Amino acid sequence: METGCLAAFLLPHCRHGTRSRIDPTSELLRSDPNMFRKGEPKAAERPDQCPPTPVPETSDLGELRRAAANCRACSLYKNATQTVFGEGGREADVVLVGEQPGDQEDYAGKPFVGPAGRILDQALQAAGIDRSSCYVTNAVKHFKWKPSGKRRLHEKPSAREIEACRPWLQAELRSLRPDIVVCLGATAVRAAYGKNLPVLKNRGQWIPSLLGPNTTITVHPSSILRAIDPAAKEKAFADFVTDLDAVAAALRSKPQSRPLPSRELF
Ligand code: URA
Repeated sequence: METGCLAAFLLPHCRHGTRSRIDPTSELLRSDPNMFRKGEPKAAERPDQCPPTPVPETSDLGELRRAAANCRACSLYKNATQTVFGEGGREADVVLVGEQPGDQEDYAGKPFVGPAGRILDQALQAAGIDRSSCYVTNAVKHFKWKPSGKRRLHEKPSAREIEACRPWLQAELRSLRPDIVVCLGATAVRAAYGKNLPVLKNRGQWIPSLLGPNTTITVHPSSILRAIDPAAKEKAFADFVTDLDAVAAALRSKPQSRPLPSRELF
């Protein structure tokens, strides 16, 4: 793939100045050549301790979705209503990766239709990105929760659950070959890079990931809902839009011919 060509259209739009980069030999990778190794799950957490993830060898999203409906690669399916697969156009330029379906998504079978989805929609609109031109998905495709009275309280997926689900995410990306992947929050980052990276320190940067060469990082929209007061919420929302503005700018200046992501990154 023409990395230079993508660099030419992305680099001028990186909002965070010299910290932004898409070069695979980036400072981050150079300074930490073991970045894909150091954060590996412990032996007991490795996905090979579970049944293999049954991802069919196909780029047909419908077929992938049907197969994912029966996934038992980790135990999250037991308490979830259904697998919530990604959603969006086959021709999507951008793939947005969230954490996992929430309560409403679990019932609806669609990603980002609840409160976090509404924040995401508002921010996309503010950045001039049409959600219908995106494919929206999650790092983990079952809702993980614990009961609290009549409510179902969100629980963070474990490293093992993220690893077990990553083959589905990679299959979606292989099928879609988008120009840009956006990690929304820490779980998406973990899925994309195979280790934890601090979201706030790396937001707005372009750092090649296991999901594709043009991957960028921003916060999860639910972090805006959790902001403590209206001023903090407003600032958190504005910062989120700033990150999405950079994605919109990169899309506006993309080359006419659709670049193909390099296969070895998958
Ligand atoms: N949060 C996510 O990460 N994904 C959803 O689909 C909904 C909420």
